[in-house]
Amino acid sequence: MSKAHTNQENNKKKTKSRKALFIFCLGFSFAILCFVTLNRAMKPVSKSEYCGSRCHEMNTAYHTWELSAHGANHKGFRVECVDCHLPPKDHYFTHLIAKGYEGGKDFYMHYLGPEYDGEIIRQRILQHLPNERCQYCHDDLLNKPSSTAARTAHLESLHDAGKDENKCVRCHEDTGHQRINKLYSP
Ligand code: HEC
Ligand code: HEC
Ligand code: HEC
Repeated sequence: MSKAHTNQENNKKKTKSRKALFIFCLGFSFAILCFVTLNRAMKPVSKSEYCGSRCHEMNTAYHTWELSAHGANHKGFRVECVDCHLPPKDHYFTHLIAKGYEGGKDFYMHYLGPEYDGEIIRQRILQHLPNERCQYCHDDLLNKPSSTAARTAHLESLHDAGKDENKCVRCHEDTGHQRINKLYSP
């Protein structure tokens, strides 16, 4: 094989790998652009104000959240709707898929579904809201100087989390939404 021919071959190879690198960079930049755009688009729709004000079905949930221990009250901390109702944000893809699914379902139910029945949804949430959602933040339940009642309840709850009565929301039903106006209770 002549030297000139080998050079030609080499040049061809170089051009090919440059092309591949160029395409890779282009794809990579596009992926980053998509990621940034998606995150920007997600920001406003992840706010509790957005979740609570888009449609009338959410009005009660929004106002009872404001009154609750976790809501936008005067306690100095605030737990957003998505923190309880969706998988954690740092499980990025699970969060995104759940968000898309729930958003789509809400949209469908709002325009095409039957009349909204808060009690049915409430019961469904009480049944399915997993303890891990709460434990994502409350991961030191047994190390806190709680009452004996709380300690006993939590020991049992953490020991056998599968049981329905050991679910966090079975005992802390009002924790995300203050259903009874305590201001007026005796
Ligand atoms: C600390 C966890 C937590 C937070 C934060 C939270 N929720 Fe809930 N949510 C629950 C639980 C538990 C239930 C079921 C018990 C109940 O209804 O109180 C529920 C019930 C609901 C229901 C069904 C009952 C109804 O009122 O229609 C909707 C809708 C809802 N939440 C939306 C929201 C919205 C919107 C926000 C934010 C403005 C929010 N949630 C914030 C835990 C939470
Ligand atoms: C994003 C973090 C976060 C999530 C998720 C969360 N909490 Fe909390 N919660 C807090 C903070 C912060 C406080 C106030 C400090 C404390 O007591 O640890 C609090 C307070 C509480 C209290 C005592 C406040 C009161 O006055 O009632 C209970 C009970 C509680 N949470 C239960 C739950 C349950 C049950 C869930 C799941 C449905 C949950 N939390 C989800 C952050 C969270
Ligand atoms: C069998 C009922 C029961 C279950 C299940 C339960 N708790 Fe509690 N929890 C209590 C009681 C009782 C208290 C004390 C309430 C009080 O002092 O006002 C308490 C208090 C708390 C507090 C306030 C701080 C403290 O430790 O006193 C937090 C936070 C809390 N629970 C979170 C949770 C989480 C998260 C789960 C799920 C892993 C859970 N609880 C499951 C009964 C329960």
